[in-house]
Parts: sequence; C-alpha cells; structure tokens
Amino acid sequence: MSLGLADIRTSFLGYFETQEHKALASSPLVPLNDPTLLFTNAGMVPFKNFFTGQEAAPHQRVVTSQKCVRAGGKHNDLDNVGYTARHHTFFEMLGNFSFGDYFKEDAIHYAWQFLTKELQISQEKLLVTVYAEDEEAKTLWKKIAGLSDDRIIPIATSDNFWSMGDTGPCGPCSEIFYDHGPDIAGGPPGSPDEDGDRFIEIWNLVFMQFEQHADGSRTDLPEPSIDTGMGLERIGALLQGKHDNYDTDLMQYLIAASEDFSNQPADGVHKVSHRVIADHLRSAAFLIADGVLPSNEGRGYVLRRIMRRAMRHAQLLGTKEPLMWKLLPALKNQMAVAYPELERAGALITETLKHEEERFRETLTRGLKLLDDALEDLNGKVLPGNIAFKLYDTYGFPLDLTQDALRERGLRVDEQGFETAMEKQRAEARASWSGSGEMATETVWFDVRDNVGMSEFVGYQGTEAEAKISAILIDGEPAERASAGQEASIIVNQTPFYAESGGQAGDKGTLKSENAAMMSVANTLKKLGDMHVHIGEVQSGELAVGDIVHLAIDDSRRSKIRSNHSATHLLHEALRRVLGDHVTQKGSLVEENYLRFDFSHPKAMTDAELRQVEDIVNAVILSNHEVSTRLMTPDEAIEAGALALFGEKYGDEVRVLAMGKDVGKDVSPNGDADGDTSHRGGHYSVELCGGTHVNRLGDIGLFAVTQEMAVASGVRRIEAMTGHAARHYLKEQEEVLGDIAGVLKAGQKDLPTRIAGLLDDKKRLERELAEAKKALALGGGQSSGADTPDDIIDVNGTKFLGKIVQGLPSKELRSLVDGGKQQIGSGVVVFIGIDDGKVGIAVGVTQDLTETFDAVSLVRIGAEKLGGKGGGGRPDMAQAGGSDIENAPAALDAIKASL
Ligand code: ALA
Repeated sequence: MSLGLADIRTSFLGYFETQEHKALASSPLVPLNDPTLLFTNAGMVPFKNFFTGQEAAPHQRVVTSQKCVRAGGKHNDLDNVGYTARHHTFFEMLGNFSFGDYFKEDAIHYAWQFLTKELQISQEKLLVTVYAEDEEAKTLWKKIAGLSDDRIIPIATSDNFWSMGDTGPCGPCSEIFYDHGPDIAGGPPGSPDEDGDRFIEIWNLVFMQFEQHADGSRTDLPEPSIDTGMGLERIGALLQGKHDNYDTDLMQYLIAASEDFSNQPADGVHKVSHRVIADHLRSAAFLIADGVLPSNEGRGYVLRRIMRRAMRHAQLLGTKEPLMWKLLPALKNQMAVAYPELERAGALITETLKHEEERFRETLTRGLKLLDDALEDLNGKVLPGNIAFKLYDTYGFPLDLTQDALRERGLRVDEQGFETAMEKQRAEARASWSGSGEMATETVWFDVRDNVGMSEFVGYQGTEAEAKISAILIDGEPAERASAGQEASIIVNQTPFYAESGGQAGDKGTLKSENAAMMSVANTLKKLGDMHVHIGEVQSGELAVGDIVHLAIDDSRRSKIRSNHSATHLLHEALRRVLGDHVTQKGSLVEENYLRFDFSHPKAMTDAELRQVEDIVNAVILSNHEVSTRLMTPDEAIEAGALALFGEKYGDEVRVLAMGKDVGKDVSPNGDADGDTSHRGGHYSVELCGGTHVNRLGDIGLFAVTQEMAVASGVRRIEAMTGHAARHYLKEQEEVLGDIAGVLKAGQKDLPTRIAGLLDDKKRLERELAEAKKALALGGGQSSGADTPDDIIDVNGTKFLGKIVQGLPSKELRSLVDGGKQQIGSGVVVFIGIDDGKVGIAVGVTQDLTETFDAVSLVRIGAEKLGGKGGGGRPDMAQAGGSDIENAPAALDAIKASL
C-alpha cells in the first residue's frame, strides 16, 4: 500500500484515538518550558512536566504529531541535510504518551498492532532492540509479537536509554527496526556495520521511569509512563517503498516546486540544493510561524543560518530572484491542513523569507567571490579562520554556510582560527566602548556578557519560561548566589521579561527555583543592548548561578501595558491626522495605569480636536484588526511609511508594527470612517517598535484622554487611559455629573442650560446687590437726590462726604460718587469700596469747586495710603486702586486733612 505522509499522520492519530488517547495539536517549536532546549526536538518535550509530576496532566493518554527542529544546540542535523537520506532540520514526530496510565505491555501492544495491522507491515520484516537489563521488555516482545530471540537484540549502550537532555525524564527504551533485506548493505543494530541502510529504526518506545537531575542524581518518576516517537518521514519512506526520506510524496512535492521556480531539474549537480531548499523551507516557515524571526543571536540566528544556507543553494540553482518565498504555497498545500499556523502566519512567512533573501543576495555574490579568490590561493585543504570570519562579519555568511560551500570541494574551515578572530573583534569592541561615565559598572556587564552571552527575549511568544541563571550581581559585583533579603540583579539565558525601553516599562513578576527559592522581580532593565537584567529582592531561599528557574511575568500588568502601548501608536497617528504632519513624537511613557505621549505642536488642543482624536482612536480599536509584526531594514521601514520612534537606536533590522486599516480622519459617532487605503499598504499606523502589543486592536477595549497640557514651548503632552482604567475614569466623570444633576434636580442633558441660567441669575443678583449697597451708602432707599445723608460734614467750610463700603467692586464707585455729588450739591465726595481682597477709591469734586480742589490730586493722596499708585481722571472725578484694605480709614482721613 502507498499512503501519503498526510494519510499516515491521520491514521496514526486515529488509531490512538480509538485506543482512548486524546489527540492534541502540535506544540510550538520554541519550548518555553525548558531552559536547555533551543527547539522542540522530540514529541515528549511539551509534556516534560506531566512525566515528572510537576504539573497534572489533563489527559492520561495523549497522541500527537509534533513539529520538531534539530538545528543548532545539542541535536544539530543542519550540516548533514541535503547530503544524506534521513537527516532533516524539520521533521514530524508521531507519538503516543501515557502519563502514569499504561506502561510497557500496552505500549508494545499498540505499536505492534499499529505497524502490523493498521499499516500492514509484514511481521517478518520487523525486529527490535531492548535495553540490556530490561528482561521484562524482552519477555513482553516475545509474548505480544511472538518475536524469536534473535530478533530481540539487547543493547547495553546509551542508545537504548533515552533521555531528553542533561536533565529531565528518562528511561530504558526499545526501538523497532525494519529490515530492507540482504540486497541492501548494513548490519543489525549493535553490529559493527549497523549504520548501513539495511536496518532502519522506525519507532522508539521509551519506558519513562526516572528523572535526571542537574547534580547527576536520578530519582523515580511519580508513575511509570510512556513516550514514543516515530519519524513521519521515515515511516512514510518505508511505506512508499523508498530508502530516502526525500523521495516521499511530501518532500517530492516541495522539490518539484523548487524545480519549477528555478527551472533546474533535481538531479545531478543540483540534487543536494533542491533537498536543502525543501528541508530548510519547512524549518524556516514553521519557526517563523512560531514567532522566531531571523536575528544575530540565539534562536533567531539559528533560523538565519538555516535560511541563508538555503539561499546559497537557491543561488547555486542560478535563480536571479528570491526563491524561497515562492515555495510557501506548495508547503501550505501539503501541510496547512494539519498545521493551520502556516495559513495564519502566511503573510509574515512570505515577507520574512523574501526580505531575508533580498537582503542576503546583496552580499552573497560578493562574499562568494571573496571565497573563490581565497580558494584559488589556498594551499592544502583548510580555509584560514580569518577569511571565514570576514565572510561572517562583512558578508553575513554564517560559519555553517561557508562550511557547506567548502564541503562540495572536500575542504574545511579552521574553526579555531574563526573563534580567535571572533574573540579579537569582541576585545576591540570592548576597548572602544565609551561608557556613559559609568565605565566601571559597564565593565562588569561586559564581563558578564563575555562569560555567559546574551539573554534571549522570548516574551513576544509567551509570558512564562524556564531558564538557567547565568549571572548574579549584588551591589554591582558578580556573585555566586543571592539569598533571602538580598537585592540582586539576575541574568538568565532566556526570559519573557520585557526590559524597560522605547518608553515601555520593564516587566515585574517572579523568578522561582526548583528548590522553592523566590525572587520578586521589581523591574527589568537592559544592559549592553540585549542583556535583560531582572532586579528585585530575594524573598525566600537562595538562588545560585546555574539554577534552573521558572520565570513568570505579572501578566495582568503586562496586558494593560500592551494595551497602552498599542494605543500610543494609534494616538500618534490620530494626532497627525487631526493636527497635521508637524506632529512628531517627543517622548513617550507606557505604564500599567496610563500612557503619556509628548509631541510637537505649538498650541493647546481645542476640545473639539481632542474629541476627534479620541473618536479616531476608538474607531480603529473597534475595527479590531490584527496587529502584525515584520522585520525590515530601517530604510525599508521608513519607505513602508513607518514613523520612526523617538530616541531609539536602530540595528540593521527593526521590528515594524502595522495596525489597523486606514480610517481616514473624519470618524462619525457611529464609527464609520472614510477610507483612504492607498498609503502605508492600507495600514492605519506603521511604526518601528520593539515593544509588546495586543494581538487584535479590540483588545485595547476603550481609549480616553484624561489630560492635555504643555510641557515645554512647542511641546504638548497627552495623558490617556485604556481598557478598564479608561472605563473607570469615564465612570467617575459620569458620577460627578450625576451628583451635579442630583444637586440641581435636573436631567443630565439639561445641565448646561441650567448652569448657564444659574450664572445669569448670579450676575443679575450681583448687580442688584451692588445697587442696593450703593443706595445704602447714599443713605438708604432709592437715591432720589432729595435726601441729605447725616454723614455730610463740614471741613474748613467745604461740605465733605466720605464713606467706606464693604463688598462693593470698584467699577460701581463712579456712579456712587455721582450720586453723592448730587446729594451734597457743593463739596467733595470720597467713596472707598472694598471687594474680593482689593480696594478702590473714587473722589468727586462738584463743578463749582473744581477751581479750588482737584479730584486727581485728592485721589492720589488717598491711593498713597492704600498702597496703590497713580490714579487718574478729571478735576471733577478721579479713581485709583490699591491693596492695603486696612488703611481705608487712613486714606479718608488724609484726604479730609488736605482740604
Ligand atoms: N522521545 C523519544 C525520541 O525522541 C521517543 O526518540
């Protein structure tokens, strides 16, 4: 029978489902639950903690087809891919698992039944190995499969004791082999020529019983368990009658696509290239789908190595244009049904492949030329390390790419020389470091980095991770351990903690060791570009360099930060639309509770502008589009319409965040917006940003501006809130409004009219009150001019009326003096009004006396006492003001005395 790989996958999952296994989707390729693994490299990796009992398994029987990558790190198949029949960087591992449920007997039974009944593989073709000490397994194989002694081969080496890594669950295993018959060269397992192609291992059954610890000790697992692994490509080749995994239907489909697009047949000189391309396409696409992007560190660098290795082979095929991205549809055709992430991340994969290849092509040709020239001058078979380093450093050739290029000619690289050149460059970089005056502390960080390397940020993919402590600093000095009560800075090999940068606050959270020591991380900072430093106090126990720790960020806090950060991008763009393109970012702070955005704009924003900005941002939020991240060079990013962020240093590659669809500028209350989708690829906002963001804009929930103010000349600041915080803020406002409505006993809608009415009333009453006060000052009743107030006195033969009136604003003094002049007929009138902390004075001289007295001179005499200056008017009426309220009587006296 000839089943396609997809059929075999389905059949495997289906068979174990009928045996009451729960079929689970493949876990991501980046295992955040393990500090020692670069990539998921076996089916059991995601279930590590179920075996050890650290976590309770939700199902005791599970079956999966797990994506695996073996490149970089411990299991590294990269160098061999393309040249052998069974090496891959990416493969699928079919596995059935029992977490404390069935053990050896059922595992053997299921495997035998699946191979011989479901797949109908002839029993005579199969033989097995067992761990030498495992008599039980041997007996079971005899009983269940009826295998004769000579087909149960005991193996005493580590080949039949499987462990995940230096630590983790492990146990004896039993491998099932297929015998291709005497026509093929090779001996049975354990024999000297076992590496031949005759006997091929197809399935490994691991009887998980122990846990290996970092200190070398081994303890029993809580329950004996089962982990099995069968490479889909191998069993596929076997069932399709092939020796070579690359001859299976799926791989052939990819190779055919590569032939089509390159116009080169996959035989002869190009065979290796097509195989490399087919394999590397799979690992690159799946890694990108799982959040890894090409970079110069850690996982991202392994991806880059894979991609560039493939790209050199694309070049060898003579392609003039980037090739890899064109093959993605073929891969999706074969695998997207089983792995929908290929569909989901399709655009990102396409762009990343295309971009990396375009970029690398620029230096690839020149690098290869340099290599060719060097080879012409080469004596012997070893390329000097400094040339390999130059290819690495100047032309972006990963070491394995150079090695791959040499392999075809039977040459190799002087790896030691390469390392030496690398070391030399590091030392130079360090020497030229001009620290920010804190040279001493920076030196410590250089030491740390040189010893332990960078820390990899895995916080775009997850919020928790297992990691290894690579360095501890206490009071700025390296230390071996930190114990309860101590403030420490801790560096680990991988971390989900975002380090403060680009305005975004550093993460808080916890860091716990296996032996229950715990540090609460109060902040995370960056050193030397990419070293994440976790700062906090050790709460309990002791943490030591080398400890395996579980890191968990405060996710609810980060989630608010994400919303605030994404909202900042939306705000930035809305401001530009409403106020104009002169708006540029002058600073930004993204915290848990609010966001703050400073921008260039010459004047205060009007209420209408603020409302429009809020409306636009909320309309984009409600459109709920996905937020996409891509990698580009800074120039490409700017070309794509990205707004460069303030104060950031950019490397040769930047993350570009694209959000929403263009909503134009005029958003109606129901959220409709005119759509100009022409610029920026139709995105509403495109910015360079390394921060963490929401997945979909709707996650932000709600956006509310809480303040707009000046920070410096030409720079305005907006503070705003999102999500629950925004809702609470608006609710508080509503409550205040409700309270006001309650006090006024009016509906909320009527409040503006009611308050305007009240203010009018107030003005009218003030006026009436002033009139009443004046009348009172002039002797009561409505001034008729007929009454003669009692307080008119005679001063040296001149009639004098002088009064101090409380609560009378100075603007009322003039009419009061006029009234007084009428009453007095002939004489001098002085009124002093005190109101609101100020004092005003007015002096009137009746027309008949203006030859004798000057109102202006008189008012000045009074003003002087009141601490005022000047005063002005005419001979018959003058006015002044002052602030020494208590001197009002003295002012009156002084004028009186001068008459
Ligand atoms: N975990 C076992 C392996 O990878 C099944 O071979």
